[in-house]
Amino acid sequence: MTEPVTWHLEGRVGLIAIDNPPVNAASHAVRVGLVRAVDALEGVAEVIAIHGVGRSFVAGADIREFGQPPKAPWLPAVCARIEACTTPVVAVLHGAALGGGLEIAMAAHARVAVPGVKLGLPEVTLGILPGAGGTQRTPRLIGIARALEMIVSGRPIDAARALEIGLVDRVMDGAPPDIARQAASEILNGTLSPRVTGHLSVAPDAEALDTARADIARRLPHLFAPARCVEAVAAATTPLQEGLKTERALFDTCVESPQRAGLVHAFFAERAVSKIPEADALAAPVGKVGIVGGGTMGQGIAGACLIAGLDVIVVEPDADARNAAAGALDTLLQGAAKRGKLADIACARRNLRLATSLSELSARDVVIEAVPEDLSLKLRVFAEMDSVCRPDAILASNTSYLDLNEIAGAVSHPERVLGLHFFAPAHVMRLLEVVVADETAPATVATGFALAKRLRKVAVRAGVCDGFIGNRILSATRRAADEAVLRGASPAEVDAALETFGFAMGPYAAQDLSGLDVGAAGRAVRGEAAPVADALIARGDLGHKTGAGFYEHRGQKPVPNAALTEILAKARTDAGVKQNPPDAQEIIARYTTAMIREGCQVVEDGIALRAIDVDAVMLFGYGFPRHLGGPMHMADRTGLATVISRIERFGAGGAAHWTVPRILRDHAKRGANLIA
Ligand code: CAA
Repeated sequence: MTEPVTWHLEGRVGLIAIDNPPVNAASHAVRVGLVRAVDALEGVAEVIAIHGVGRSFVAGADIREFGQPPKAPWLPAVCARIEACTTPVVAVLHGAALGGGLEIAMAAHARVAVPGVKLGLPEVTLGILPGAGGTQRTPRLIGIARALEMIVSGRPIDAARALEIGLVDRVMDGAPPDIARQAASEILNGTLSPRVTGHLSVAPDAEALDTARADIARRLPHLFAPARCVEAVAAATTPLQEGLKTERALFDTCVESPQRAGLVHAFFAERAVSKIPEADALAAPVGKVGIVGGGTMGQGIAGACLIAGLDVIVVEPDADARNAAAGALDTLLQGAAKRGKLADIACARRNLRLATSLSELSARDVVIEAVPEDLSLKLRVFAEMDSVCRPDAILASNTSYLDLNEIAGAVSHPERVLGLHFFAPAHVMRLLEVVVADETAPATVATGFALAKRLRKVAVRAGVCDGFIGNRILSATRRAADEAVLRGASPAEVDAALETFGFAMGPYAAQDLSGLDVGAAGRAVRGEAAPVADALIARGDLGHKTGAGFYEHRGQKPVPNAALTEILAKARTDAGVKQNPPDAQEIIARYTTAMIREGCQVVEDGIALRAIDVDAVMLFGYGFPRHLGGPMHMADRTGLATVISRIERFGAGGAAHWTVPRILRDHAKRGANLIA
């Protein structure tokens, strides 16, 4: 195996290269190599320059090593060795200098950024804090307020900003080894002055610390790491060694927190879902997109494509709807530009055309149907798409529960049909279910994933069934919520329990937002009833859009719909369920167990490839709290035997939807986890 860290002497300059694909994570071998390289060059070279090979400088500690017994030298020791080196060390940062990567750079005596580099301390997003001196050296370079901003948000900054605030000393363009030589010669000729970061003092800033504490208490009370980040930064006004000790103690508490495991799992879930059987198939171009239907979904999908720089034609035959779509899309683009998501709004506007006829889509690479959920309408649209589109165009449906195999049957080449199930608002939500029908070709699937990548979505491969992965699980959880209500909990109590658990919104508040009629359409197809929701619909209480649903939305704050008292009494009597109102813990257990049960069933049925795909769907499309990792991760942590006994308890009456899936029993029997 080639060494991930190599070094050599070029005249008076010692060059250290880090080469650990794909992103130069600071694995054990890299840490060992860095210490050896510094040991070898100290006093031999007059300046040492460290640079990365490939995509980045160093993208952080090796996340795969988290949770394993640490192997010396730890990153803090590596940083200490670099800082203590008696020969000046300069770090050249390109691609990504994140987490431990930036900490290595801050321990060096000077830093040069290459345009395009992302510099940041994203540890908080993994449930930890920068534990290799980051909380102590960042404030020494840029002050407490800016250090808090970087460390608590975890958001990266660019080279220009890093120069402006003093995180780096220079911005230089070119190849990293060349910049390393140039920076070294600037140190040698005295135009770049090396400094020991740990020797710099930090001005106290009680106001910035108090503001950060208050902000976290208000916005992120359920998260463990952010408050520890603030306390670690607060220690930066003490001498370095003392501050590092405080940082280490706080870091250790974060490492022990279950939130760390959940957040690291979420990081890997986002990436694991791209490993699909069709990954090696050749994706077709996706630059020119056609969208059929200018309603809410069509607008959102068009918005997502325009923000990604794609060329878009939206076909909407109805003149009023077309004008409305044009206006809504412009508002959407302005909003994206304001939030910094769209750099060139003029270009996005030029890339959009609204058209009246499907014949305008004859040269499109991908055409996405986003008309209402009516099978006969979709079949007509697909038949027309088939006759007007290029024979090699990819034809996608945005259906959320209709049978994609039937839809594919409407065209002469079903191998180029797939489902692209976007989630509203489609320009914001990160999940995209890529639904694979019986005859969908591997290249079509690969193209769906390529499009998702362009749109910066998390694509998850799903098989055909009612609701695919996400909506099928959603139906199961809604059923569990309804069962809790029939046993005596109020919808508001169910919502409150699940909001305490970590969902931004409970299931009944969510139904009010999306409209009760939306869920009813799916239930009608499945022949299912939801007596409480159906009674509200019969009254015309459809949620926000009619002023009332499960809640009345006429005042400042929603209050439970007064009509519920009577509706609930009748529904409970009709159901004949023994009244035994579940408390918050029981509500959460029922809801999450239903999610786990259906998630297992979805994997067992081959609808999802793996358990981790279920977690990705729930995390990126359904607001599952990221720090809990996803329902399947949660099942592993709870223990599968406990999950099974809960399912058996909830299904004691013999309900088919509370049977124990085979894969759950098998994994429990083998003592294996659901997440491999
Ligand atoms: N450790 C281990 N593997 C990593 C990694 C890391 N820090 N960062 C990325 N990878 C892996 C990914 O899992 C992925 O692997 P697969 O191909 O097997 O799926 C591969 O590298 C490529 O990653 P991406 O698909 O994300 O590539 P990208 O080009 O879209 O993004 C990136 C590159 C910006 C570096 C992004 O990967 C990223 O943000 N990585 C995480 C950075 C981070 O959080 N660093 C802090 C680590 S914690 C730390 O450093 C603790 C400490 O102080 C002690």
